Amino acid sequence: MAEDKLPGVMELTPLNPAFNDDPYALLDKLRSTDPVHRDTAAGVFVLTRYEEVRGILSDTTMWRHPERAEEAAVLSRQMLNPAPPGLNIPKEERGAGLLFMDEPDHMRVRTPIAKALYKRVAKSRPMVQQVVDEWLDKAKARPTIDLMADFAFRVPIDVIAHTLGVDKANFAQFREWSEGAILGIYPFRSEAETQAYIDGRNGLWRYTHELMDARRKKPADDLVSDMVALQAEGAEISDAELSMGLVGLLVGGNLTTTDLIGNAIWLLLTHPEQRAKLVADPSLIGGTVEEALRLESPVDITSRIAPREMNVGGCPVHTSQSLLLHLRAANHDPKVFPDPRRFDITRKDAPHVAFGGGLHACVGAPLGRMMGQVAIWTFFNRFPNARLAYPNEEPQWSALPFFRGLKTLTVAIQ
Ligand code: HEM
Repeated sequence: MAEDKLPGVMELTPLNPAFNDDPYALLDKLRSTDPVHRDTAAGVFVLTRYEEVRGILSDTTMWRHPERAEEAAVLSRQMLNPAPPGLNIPKEERGAGLLFMDEPDHMRVRTPIAKALYKRVAKSRPMVQQVVDEWLDKAKARPTIDLMADFAFRVPIDVIAHTLGVDKANFAQFREWSEGAILGIYPFRSEAETQAYIDGRNGLWRYTHELMDARRKKPADDLVSDMVALQAEGAEISDAELSMGLVGLLVGGNLTTTDLIGNAIWLLLTHPEQRAKLVADPSLIGGTVEEALRLESPVDITSRIAPREMNVGGCPVHTSQSLLLHLRAANHDPKVFPDPRRFDITRKDAPHVAFGGGLHACVGAPLGRMMGQVAIWTFFNRFPNARLAYPNEEPQWSALPFFRGLKTLTVAIQ
């Protein structure tokens, strides 16, 4: 096959102007020409068809930890690079938490975190509504807002802070650390951004340990109290794993939910007929969030490593070779989603893979969905006249590789 003409992984990022202009044209080309494509420079296979992506996600024998990837898998092994100087966190607490753990440790750590998180999410809708209302109250008197900076970036950090149990007095500091910690996933950081990342990670590390100690002495109605209680009752999770898991919730749930909120509101502002349907029938909010997750999936890729010799979509894959699963490409597979570029909040097709799947499926999906539903519905309910302030301008997508979200979006709200 003429692989050399096909885009490599780094060309499937906004760093490539052609991808920036029309990501779906490149993803369609790859899917229809070579759906299990070997990118020799990055040392990975890129999977773009729904069938193989779903199949690998569901295979519970696949590996995840980058140390298991062959030497040639340079992109996957980047995670193993030494920490920047100044990061004062013990080595065992520096990882990305659940995302890169393998069995049996992964499930040992994930089970109590998921148990405590799901219990909290079930009762946190009023808190999410309050956070959303607070930020919209701050914006309401202005003629225009930056939907991203004034709203979509704000809601997830505050909701996660409330969920964990961050004390109100520490909110501003927690927000600053969280914004810094997120910079860890930016590949092209300035010196100042690297410093903000180090300060954010160090701060969150110290703070989660302080919070665990405080809640052991005096429990409160929050996730950290629930987690230390589960630990005391015998859940096999160390303090290091718990701290890493808590920071993982924050980092995993922050930008992703911001992008979901921004992408969905932008889609509704640019598709008046879908917006009218939603306004007429609020029960469509669930379908709206799912369709936004499918059409403009916030996370482009996830990965797995082959634990044995395999055949993937007719292509031989050797033990320890790395597979990048292109979630956004799979969510646009016309075999599964007819007319995939159409935004249709009443779609009844197969489930999308925007939250990944299998053992590593996003543990924050119920919270992300709920934040998205409350934020999007409340925004349109409170600002029925909301419209793009510059309707003729192209949307400004963020330059962050492998994430799909808007940098800024000026919206007239009066
Ligand atoms: C709403 C937008 C969100 C999207 C699109 C999203 C997407 C994803 C994806 C694609 C994965 C990888 C799944 C896989 O490899 O199969 C993942 C994992 C994860 N997400 Fe999310 N996520 C979102 C929200 C959240 C929230 C709100 C939280 C935390 C409260 C969170 C925490 C995590 C964690 C901890 C993992 C690792 C799970 C594991 O490996 O067992 N995410 N997410």
